[in-house]
Amino acid sequence: MRTSTGIAAALLPGLALAGASSCAAESSLLYVAAYPADGEAAGKLTTFKLDKSSLQSVAASDDCGPFPTWLTQANDVLYCINAARGSTAGGVISSLKIGADGSVTKLGSIGTIGDPVNTVAYGEDSHGLAMAHYEGGGIAIFDVADPSNITTIQAEVFDTPTTNTSFPAQSQSHPHQVILDPTGGFLVVPDLGADLLRIFQVNKTSLRYTNAGAYPLPRGSGPRHGAFLKAGDKTFLYTVSELSNSLTGFSVDTSDSGLALTQIYNATTHGDAKPLPAGTAAAEIHISPDNKFLTLSSRYERSLKHTTADGTVVDSDPLITFSVNAETGALAHVQTAPAGGIGPRHFAFNGDGSLVAAAAQDDGRVVVFARDVATGMIGKPVAETKVAGLPKFVMFG
Ligand SMILES: *[C@@H]1O[C@H](CO)[C@@H](O)[C@H](O)[C@H]1NC(C)=O
Ligand SMILES: *[C@@H]1O[C@H](CO)[C@@H](O)[C@H](O)[C@H]1NC(C)=O
Ligand SMILES: *[C@@H]1O[C@H](CO)[C@@H](O)[C@H](O)[C@H]1NC(C)=O
Ligand SMILES: *[C@@H]1O[C@H](CO)[C@@H](O)[C@H](O)[C@H]1NC(C)=O
Repeated sequence: MRTSTGIAAALLPGLALAGASSCAAESSLLYVAAYPADGEAAGKLTTFKLDKSSLQSVAASDDCGPFPTWLTQANDVLYCINAARGSTAGGVISSLKIGADGSVTKLGSIGTIGDPVNTVAYGEDSHGLAMAHYEGGGIAIFDVADPSNITTIQAEVFDTPTTNTSFPAQSQSHPHQVILDPTGGFLVVPDLGADLLRIFQVNKTSLRYTNAGAYPLPRGSGPRHGAFLKAGDKTFLYTVSELSNSLTGFSVDTSDSGLALTQIYNATTHGDAKPLPAGTAAAEIHISPDNKFLTLSSRYERSLKHTTADGTVVDSDPLITFSVNAETGALAHVQTAPAGGIGPRHFAFNGDGSLVAAAAQDDGRVVVFARDVATGMIGKPVAETKVAGLPKFVMFG
């Protein structure tokens, strides 16, 4: 079972391999969470069936709330968050039971601190869920042992780290993700507003967290997302910073009492030092299921072209891929490929890494590409579909 952060493969290599054979099947499901377009009241969670080159909508749900923004799968339940972007109130998390046909049935929901943007499952049997709140400026954790009865265990709003009120992105704490380390004992939280990687130790039984320090990144960098990679007995963490458009690598040492980060790599999201176009905003980062490649998405560069299914040539932002040196964690640029349109806020690998799905938010398009597992290269589009509203998130079922 892969989680939406893509680190389950690092946690459970045996399960990832077992998943690979089932994902090699000819058809698979794709879940897409979309915000409403301007003038529309509500977005949707839509399930698509990918069958060779066809991507057909097979189910749709309003049960996430009007602003569905992130999904995490744990066992046979999808946890979907309603972000209510721009608001410090109105966050909701809903649990949705997945049916065999990809439709979902609501089990329960609970209100949260405002503007949740990301969740990760953790704890024994994935009975916990941790959440990052962007506008709300904090984190929260939930007990989901009974998905019909989600209960809040801890929730916290961080102190304002800076008084730069002229710049909303950094005038307060803006946690953007909760990343579970491969031991399952720590959460790392990139805080875009505070330029920190906040570190928390978690108890896998009680689910409770304790503060375990923070790693400061350069002021103004705006760390957004990250991904752990486990190679033999070595662990690395890679983060993308949205404001400086940098890609930073760390070697990771965990002990009973802490998680220590040592920087081993830093460059632009293209792996060099060349300036990027004004407005560029790095978004997502994932490690391939085989732990050999890193791919990230970069928004608003408009540097490439994509040919849509009907033959129209449109501007595209890139998906940028690096190979990872398993000994040192060093990165080598492999490819800069079109993401299928503008604003690839999110993308996902399938279980065996033979496909990549990207959500071009600003174009209302989701494109599935073939991927060469041996070279890490993203290839031709396999299927694509228009999506109503702004697709924020895409995940293989
Ligand atoms: C939901 O969980 C809480 C906390 O564990 C418990 O007190 C409550 O009885 C549960 N409610 C139901 C309906 O199971
Ligand atoms: C505050 O943000 C503005 C706008 O981005 C920037 O120009 C300025 O340098 C920032 N000030 C500090 C102290 O970081
Ligand atoms: C973790 O939580 C369990 C259950 O509450 C408790 O028994 C245990 O002592 C805790 N472990 C640590 C290291 O605090
Ligand atoms: C990493 O690179 C970025 C972009 O090139 C730069 O803004 C940042 O200051 C660098 N960080 C460190 C710690 O060297």
